[in-house]
Amino acid sequence: MAKVTRTPLISGNWKMHHNHFEAISTIQKLAYLLHKEDTDAVDVSVHPPFTDLRSVQTVLEADDVPIALGAQHCHWEEKGAFTGEVSPAFLAKLNVSYVIVGHSERRELFGETDEMVNTKAKAILKWGMTPIVCCGETLEEREAGSTEDKVGGQIRAGLAGIAAEQVAGLVLAYEPIWAIGTGRTASAEDAQAVCAYVRSVVAEVAGADAAASVRIQYGGSVKAANAPELMAQPDIDGALVGGAALVAEDFAGIVQFRSA
Ligand code: PGA
Repeated sequence: MAKVTRTPLISGNWKMHHNHFEAISTIQKLAYLLHKEDTDAVDVSVHPPFTDLRSVQTVLEADDVPIALGAQHCHWEEKGAFTGEVSPAFLAKLNVSYVIVGHSERRELFGETDEMVNTKAKAILKWGMTPIVCCGETLEEREAGSTEDKVGGQIRAGLAGIAAEQVAGLVLAYEPIWAIGTGRTASAEDAQAVCAYVRSVVAEVAGADAAASVRIQYGGSVKAANAPELMAQPDIDGALVGGAALVAEDFAGIVQFRSA
């Protein structure tokens, strides 16, 4: 198996925060705080609400800011009678690069199933964007010892029918639900163990080369203070950041984990 260097990807999921004015000012601050050596070494994406995407795209492109535009969700159809939904084709038209799929909040609050996650991941790929496919267990599942069953099932279902070469370019995010927005982070060892397990599932379904290339993020209360230790783990290739992504200084501190 060829040795693959995986460029870390740090993604800021703004969830339902920041209107488009707040988005513009946050992005402008972030562009100022991040240095060329940061964005040369680390890929960075921001995932604002839909109503901010065009404004953020304009700032990023006008100033040539090396931050990728991301979305938090989309539908799988190109168009149709789906009131309130957003087409992956519309996101592609805004030069969106990454789309989060199957975040636990979408699964738990909006009924997203593994099948929907799989269908959406395929649609996102079809439109030339990269899905960030999320997985993660509840506290009850962790305590019952079923983390691997839950996470493995989500990854197997999420990747079903996707060609190995495409799996190689995907991003997966391991986000233990009990660590999201709670200030509780998985220990670096626990996060590493589950991310290594996720990589082994990818190897099983798509082969060793895809497993060596796929990027696996950890998410759940990542902060500038814990990012260096998490990012030092061999199977953690980035972070999916919620709360700490809302403030430019905090998010920049995570992107700059190498200099901490
Ligand atoms: P958090 O959110 O960093 O606020 O825990 C992570 C996420 O939900 O992606």
